[in-house]
Amino acid sequence: MAPYLNVLGLAAATLCLFSSSGVAYNPKPSIFTFAPDSGGFQLGGPSLAPEIRVSQNDAPGVLRAARDLAADFGKVLGINGTVIVADWSGTITQKTASKPIILIGTIGQSSLIDGLVSSNKLDTSAVAKKWETFTYQVISSPWEGLSNVFAVAGSDSRGTVFGIYDISERIGVSPLHYWADVAPIKRTYIAATSQIHTEGPPSVKYRGIFLNDEAPALTGWGRANFKQSQYGSAFVSDFYKLIFDLVLRLKGNYVWPAMWSSMFYLDDPKNGPMATEYGIFMGTSHHEPMARADKEQGRFLRGSWDWRSNKAGVQSFMQEGATRAKNWSTIFTLGMRGSGDAASATLSASALEEIIAWQQSTLTKTLGRPLSEIPQAWVMYKEVPGYWQAGMKVSDDVTLLWSDDNRGNIRRVPIDNEEKRSGGSGMYYHFDYVGDPRNYKWINTIQLTKTWEQMTLTYDSGIKNIWIVNVGDLKALELPTVHYMAMAWDREAFRGMDSTTEWLKVWSGRQFGESAGQAAAEIMTTYGKLVARHKYEDLSRTPFAFHATNYDEAELNYQEWADLVVKAQKVYDGLPAAVQDSFFEIVLHPVLAGKTVFEIYSKVALASRYATEKRIITNQLAKDVQAAFQEDQAITRRFHTLRGGKWNHFMDQTHLGYNNWQEPSSNTIPRPSTITAASSNALLGVSAQGNTAAYPGSARLTMLPVSKFDSVNRYIDIFTRGDGRFSYDITANVSYVNVTNRRGSISSPSGPTDIRSILGVDWSSAPAGSSAALLTITNTNSTSQTASVIVPLENPTVPSDFKGHVESDRTVSIEAEHFNPAASSKEYSIIPHYGRTLSGVRLPPRTPSQQPGRGPVLVYPFYSFTNIADATVTVYLAPSENANPKSPNRYSVAVDGGSVSTVQVVALTNGSNQPQGWADAVIRGAYVKSSKVGRVAPGKHELKLYLLEPTMVVTKVVIDLGGVKSSFLGPPESLIV
Ligand SMILES: *[C@@H]1O[C@H](CO)[C@@H](O)[C@H](O)[C@H]1NC(C)=O
Ligand SMILES: *[C@@H]1O[C@H](CO)[C@@H](O)[C@H](O)[C@H]1NC(C)=O
Ligand SMILES: *[C@@H]1O[C@H](CO)[C@@H](O)[C@H](O)[C@H]1NC(C)=O
Repeated sequence: MAPYLNVLGLAAATLCLFSSSGVAYNPKPSIFTFAPDSGGFQLGGPSLAPEIRVSQNDAPGVLRAARDLAADFGKVLGINGTVIVADWSGTITQKTASKPIILIGTIGQSSLIDGLVSSNKLDTSAVAKKWETFTYQVISSPWEGLSNVFAVAGSDSRGTVFGIYDISERIGVSPLHYWADVAPIKRTYIAATSQIHTEGPPSVKYRGIFLNDEAPALTGWGRANFKQSQYGSAFVSDFYKLIFDLVLRLKGNYVWPAMWSSMFYLDDPKNGPMATEYGIFMGTSHHEPMARADKEQGRFLRGSWDWRSNKAGVQSFMQEGATRAKNWSTIFTLGMRGSGDAASATLSASALEEIIAWQQSTLTKTLGRPLSEIPQAWVMYKEVPGYWQAGMKVSDDVTLLWSDDNRGNIRRVPIDNEEKRSGGSGMYYHFDYVGDPRNYKWINTIQLTKTWEQMTLTYDSGIKNIWIVNVGDLKALELPTVHYMAMAWDREAFRGMDSTTEWLKVWSGRQFGESAGQAAAEIMTTYGKLVARHKYEDLSRTPFAFHATNYDEAELNYQEWADLVVKAQKVYDGLPAAVQDSFFEIVLHPVLAGKTVFEIYSKVALASRYATEKRIITNQLAKDVQAAFQEDQAITRRFHTLRGGKWNHFMDQTHLGYNNWQEPSSNTIPRPSTITAASSNALLGVSAQGNTAAYPGSARLTMLPVSKFDSVNRYIDIFTRGDGRFSYDITANVSYVNVTNRRGSISSPSGPTDIRSILGVDWSSAPAGSSAALLTITNTNSTSQTASVIVPLENPTVPSDFKGHVESDRTVSIEAEHFNPAASSKEYSIIPHYGRTLSGVRLPPRTPSQQPGRGPVLVYPFYSFTNIADATVTVYLAPSENANPKSPNRYSVAVDGGSVSTVQVVALTNGSNQPQGWADAVIRGAYVKSSKVGRVAPGKHELKLYLLEPTMVVTKVVIDLGGVKSSFLGPPESLIV
């Protein structure tokens, strides 16, 4: 591929007028110290590990987690802690050897903790009676003859368990110790300072994951590793132990089990009671009411799954689900949908009201508890929200579990009095999906800042009772999962607009070590931007491809991937062996695998363009495409053979060659163009940036205008159309225009076959205003081969007191964050690293809806040279939905005092269907909307942009003065002076 100079960062780097602000990630600080001279109460050393005491009347999940803590001390120190479970009443002060003592217990359920409380040694008033809250601290002189103990107290059993795993993580055992092979940090000293550490209650009451779309990867892996149940599922208790361990270490409490071909409660009779023992609330997915799996319907339902024609059969089926789960921690899915994940043809709103009323009375009778003590969720997914929007009534104690659009855009926030409902609301979110417009279920395609933006909108809009996220096969989605759970636990730590980026640095430092962690965070931040542009499965959808010619889009986008691979590989190569596997699984693999897929599609697009120019390099690109296809398979093999084959099958998912929403049965790639080398030797070819014409097809080429205010380099490419070698020479007809690589030698097959020559202009000598220069490119071995390139020059003047963006090529392109803060409303804030290019700008959640042309405004000063009667302004927005169904997402835009143009971004719907244009928007990763703003005469201007809803994010604004070309991302940002 031809070399290029990346100057896209230039505009932002030269800018000092505009700056972003934000409080960084703000977690609770650690009270542990690890330097041997750091003092504190020592909990461990090279041959010293704690004795962990637990009261035998505490919850089984607490005893179990205490044993994990003992082993985790062992992983860090090389010597295991010991656990003593006893009835400590009366003997709490018993002394053993010289080991440090850790007392763990649940307030009101532990003779140990209650003993400390009653002797006034431990103050639990800040913790007691709260949901899932814990404290841990050193207690000095707990009793006669002992100087210190370390105590961990939970408000309830899950609070205690979260306290235990919080310690594990902070001393050096990652929640991903199993699922991503994160190595424990080796330490020779662990101590606790005298600070009191308290966390909780969690921001979101029920928070967890849904294992879904679990074939072929998770299912294939499960079958290879676990004994299958009599029904053929491998998702048995030995499997769920690993899931529950992860969820609890992430301080989650909720799981929807795999269900494509599994029945959680039947595949292993231990599954149900074990979940409760661990402290996990089990749910079932949106179309599996009353704690029964979809697959149970086929086996055990008498009659059809139809309330109207088979009420008795359906009722007894549902009753059995309630009876079976009555002693287990369960969140009951209410309502009913059709068979499988589909709408029912026979259900009506009144039937659904009847169903939910019946389910509620069945639950109170069966569980013997009031409804206020039974968590229940009605999942407002696909067609279901339409019933609610149409006015269906459902009892207040049911949680309304809203959903996203399957692509990470939430469809709804609470409105009117919904927030006051006692059951509150929840959000079902997706990191993986099977369905229209395309599946995405291969590897991680999640931009963390987008998750942050949508989940802070969710939370701040009052959705706090349930967060459940579809994590697909789980593996490969570890990073978005961990991030999501961290936010669900402590939204306050994520107040800063840049908190996710900062969190990523802290988190990566813990997984890979400090210095690699910084680099890993940068790599995954860039990765998030690249996948926000395009999910892998969507790449074959050609109307939404990166443009092969305009703005060098395909080439630059691919180059970002290639650079990212180099960076990630370098970090990997410098890591200790113990850390390499986890770095590969979380960072290097997605970067390598993603780059390889982009290499295929980018080079196919470029080969197609180069073939029309008859560039000999076309054939090399075609070979590269084949090599990348092989490489894709090699990367899969590498994943599957890692750690002795531990993760075999996790990359079984096909991902190349989608031609409808469903996955292809095998990977296929588009056929790249090739050319036959011209028969004669040494044939000069020339192409000019952004042009589809090339020499010799066109004897005379015209470059894009070259302006004093260009933000990108202008160039021509000199290339060969056949084998052989020749030299060339470039001359300019004026002294103030020069080029790099003025002379050179082109050669095929040995190379270089293509040389890029970048224009330079001495603007102080060039004529003011518009002029033209001429470049002549000659094959010095065959002077009859001479190409001419006309260079239109634009050397206008901008007053020295102007600050803002300047037109070039009849375009002004502005990254949304580059507004003038002095003139813009303070309400707006910048989400760094958000979206496809630079960042996003939004209003705080809950900002009231605004009238057109009113309210908080963003002001963009720009300077133009073109006189145009009716300019077009194009606004690039995140693909957010109308989360408030009464106030659709709209913006207003105006230039100077001109008329205000107001654009509705997303159409209103009946609450069930996706809005018109939705599929295009999610594939593109943006809504791109244009409107006319009237005359723009040469000179200084102000563009005003008003976001009328807090549910939208703007990323880019483009003023088309007649020069904007089609592209995927929009023109690169204009120069800012
Ligand atoms: C430490 O505990 C782990 C987990 O229980 C066990 O596998 C390991 O053998 C123990 N190590 C020692 C030295 O006892
Ligand atoms: C072209 O000219 C250069 C020197 O000017 C020479 O080295 C080279 O061999 C020539 N190539 C051909 C194909 O004649
Ligand atoms: C081209 O001219 C510019 C301005 O005079 C100068 O700074 C630059 O070094 C020159 N570049 C080349 C390749 O000669």
